[in-house]
Amino acid sequence: MRQPLVAGNWKMNGSRASVRALVEGVKAGLDGVGQVRVAVCPPFVYLADVAALLEGSAVMLGAQNLYFAASGAYTGETSAAMLMDFGCAYVIVGHSERRALFGETDETVVRKLVAASRAGLKPILCVGELLEDRENGVTEHVVGRQLDSVLHVSGGLEALANTIIAYEPIWAIGTGRTASPEQAQDVHAFIRRRIAMRDAEIAARIQILYGGSVKASNAQELFRMPDIDGGLIGGASLDAQEFLTICRAAG
Ligand code: PGA
Repeated sequence: MRQPLVAGNWKMNGSRASVRALVEGVKAGLDGVGQVRVAVCPPFVYLADVAALLEGSAVMLGAQNLYFAASGAYTGETSAAMLMDFGCAYVIVGHSERRALFGETDETVVRKLVAASRAGLKPILCVGELLEDRENGVTEHVVGRQLDSVLHVSGGLEALANTIIAYEPIWAIGTGRTASPEQAQDVHAFIRRRIAMRDAEIAARIQILYGGSVKASNAQELFRMPDIDGGLIGGASLDAQEFLTICRAAG
């Protein structure tokens, strides 16, 4: 069966001191998390600190972004190999904030996905619709387009075989407004069906996380749904106790 994963996306938050306290808090509360895989994705500048703090623990390290080129004149960017060098296992790709605020397109997202996967990282590919899309009834069209941009590109299916998907409705991110378990389940099932049209085996085993205002109080009802395999947690991952409660809810 699919192993549940709960990943904390810390976004652009923290200081060296607060990051240390957060990691210590998470490490101290892992009892009871059971089979759930736990990961944290700090800002780049804290990766080395967090990697050192996580040594010997079961918590995995992830990054929030990467660039698809291997090396070269790309000021300010970070390659997959560099992330591997710092002990990252995961990397978030195509988060809606990157798409909306930093101009990432389906095309750049898929190039990042393929680069991350080829380098040995496990990409967490984010997809999701705007409120306007949902209100216009085009959620499946939008998420389908985001998936197709991967499924129909050379190397995309191979990368997807090694990818985790995070369904994050944009209207639910950081807004306190969560998708209902049924709304989320419907889209998760749609994602699985869409992938199954290309490869049924990948569709059956791919982990699909839900993200968007997951909290200790709503995690359990979301994770109970059959196609929800864990969560990508933003705001609530900055509080060790709340994050741990969410991790336990995925078990
Ligand atoms: P949120 O963010 O949990 O704060 O809504 C989730 C995400 O953007 O990954």
